[in-house]
Amino acid sequence: MTYKELDRETLKKILKEEYKKYNNYKNLELSYDMTRGKPCKLQLDLSNEMESRKYLQGFHSISDQEVRNYGVLDGIPEAKKLMSEMLGVGTDEIVVGGNSSLNLMYDMLVRFMLFGTGTEGCKPWSKEEKIKWICPVPGYDRHFLITEKLGFELIAVPLLGDGPDMDMIKDLVKDPAVKGMWMIPKYSNPTGEVYSDAKIRELASMETAANDFRILCDDAYTVHFLRKGPAKQLNVLEACKEAGNPDRVFLFGSTSKVTFPGAGISAVCGSEKNIRFLLSYLTVQTICYDKINQLRHARFLGDYNGIIAHMKKHAEIILPKFEAVDKILTRELEGLGILSWTKPDGGYFISINTLPGCASAVVAKAKECGVKFTPAGSTFPYKKDPQDSNIRIAPTLPPIQELEAAIKILCVCVKICSIEKLLEA
Ligand SMILES: Cc1ncc(COP(=O)(O)O)c(C=O)c1O
Repeated sequence: MTYKELDRETLKKILKEEYKKYNNYKNLELSYDMTRGKPCKLQLDLSNEMESRKYLQGFHSISDQEVRNYGVLDGIPEAKKLMSEMLGVGTDEIVVGGNSSLNLMYDMLVRFMLFGTGTEGCKPWSKEEKIKWICPVPGYDRHFLITEKLGFELIAVPLLGDGPDMDMIKDLVKDPAVKGMWMIPKYSNPTGEVYSDAKIRELASMETAANDFRILCDDAYTVHFLRKGPAKQLNVLEACKEAGNPDRVFLFGSTSKVTFPGAGISAVCGSEKNIRFLLSYLTVQTICYDKINQLRHARFLGDYNGIIAHMKKHAEIILPKFEAVDKILTRELEGLGILSWTKPDGGYFISINTLPGCASAVVAKAKECGVKFTPAGSTFPYKKDPQDSNIRIAPTLPPIQELEAAIKILCVCVKICSIEKLLEA
């Protein structure tokens, strides 16, 4: 029976038992941090070899460029080839950047604000009265923070398991103030969903009232499979070109969770026109990015097959953690009607949904017990989940025993908060 079907007396009895467990956990004075999606030490160790001097031998790129000196703004050829294979674009459709793709996204939006998008007849966005921005939810908190900070009005559009609600999006883009959207096409943060080719085609081809409508497509998890290999997916830039809207999308990615977060290499891709637009501003912004890091990444990872072989090693380390979370949630909560959760084939997160109105209470309850989860609401614009239901679980960083203990505590908190909510009614 689900909790909703139980009578009040039975619920009260369960509540008492769960509080007993909760207080026992509390007495253990635990301190677990489950807040951010970071690789664990074993995963980082997979790339230690990249530190070897052999990957920098000669300090010259294949085109004989000296990597220790200024120059080569768009990236050395071997890094462009590697990242273009990873992101599924041509080598003339990419700029390889520094250590952070998020930084490239931020810069891109600031550029749009200051100078516009390079679309004929369109103003810099800062000259517009209002900029509205579509945010598929639940989504990545840092995306939402960037567009919030720039003063855009954020519009949440629900993700439906194969991408966002397209009816809603097609309606929204009739408004010329809606200038663009965030998108994480594969193993989305936090739902793990993979956008269907049909939705990618719709996004690429839909009519938009704004001529300078832009999709910021963050393919952060494109090679981050957990099981068989990366999901096959229509490339978003390709789809935009096919639809006759080649300039609609900028595509981003990085090796942050392939090699070292904060010390990887990033890339931004777009139509040849968009790349020319980008370089015309980038050339003022910086002389070049870190080519030494580009060279060792290119030599260490080799090519697409090299990346996939490397990601397989990551998957071997983290899949057991995803499975452990699923196993505990299934054992403790399946059939009770108080929690649903994702079973992703890739990415870094498991997304859970409590009964409406319970997520903040669950996170607070777990915190009191020494287990920190990402604050409820973080996966929504303005940190406001209208249902107060979504919590993002990041299983990769903690050792498996810690993870298991944290999830068991989470289950107790979910039971307690759900019963308290049901008894309120
Ligand atoms: C969807 C998404 N994009 C971007 C990033 C950060 O990427 P980078 O390290 O390249 O800035 C993250 C990190 O968690 C992420 O989840």
